[in-house]
Amino acid sequence: AADIQQDLAKILVTEEQIIAKLDELAARVADDYAGKDLVLVGVLKGAVMVMADFARALPMHAPMDWMAVSSYGASTKSSGVVQIRKDLDTDLHGKHVLIVEDIIDSGLTLSWLLENFESRGAESIEVLALLRKPEAAKVVIDCKYVGFDIPTDFVVGYGLDYAERYRNLRDVAVLAPHVYS
Ligand code: PRP
Ligand code: MN
Ligand code: MG
Repeated sequence: AADIQQDLAKILVTEEQIIAKLDELAARVADDYAGKDLVLVGVLKGAVMVMADFARALPMHAPMDWMAVSSYGASTKSSGVVQIRKDLDTDLHGKHVLIVEDIIDSGLTLSWLLENFESRGAESIEVLALLRKPEAAKVVIDCKYVGFDIPTDFVVGYGLDYAERYRNLRDVAVLAPHVYS
């Protein structure tokens, strides 16, 4: 673990802060979707940890489906080209869809996903994102449930990767520049 810690400039959001925030968002979502046919759509792979903790905090039926898209690859910059690596298993027709994301950075991934979802006949579509970088927005995403607004530094942990590493950290941390420069 010592070698991993050396790659981190600082801890930005702790596991405790994340869990507390997701509990808070889950209470709001449970209120907003009471009596509705909710489906959670997680965006692989970054949203895995958020989905796991958020879904368990929800006191209601919340089927999960998953979509795998990727635009970053082994880079700290979005390529802007979003690729579907795995599509949904279920039909969204008539469902109230809540897209679960780890982070909104440039907004390109979600803007592409939202457009893609519009043709699938969902009753409603909203977004939950644990993190958002307001200053990095190239497209502004209408995100109803936001955990934390953060600075533009490249962050890893709690699902977020750099070249597939660091996803398994419990906290969200700023990646030390020496790792990618
Ligand atoms: C990351 C992150 C979001 C997206 C946000 O995914 O998990 O999905 O980028 O960036 P954007 O707002 O600039 O589009 P990535 O493409 O790295 O795939 P991953 O989830 O498998 O890591
Ligand atoms: Mn992602
Ligand atoms: Mg990534």
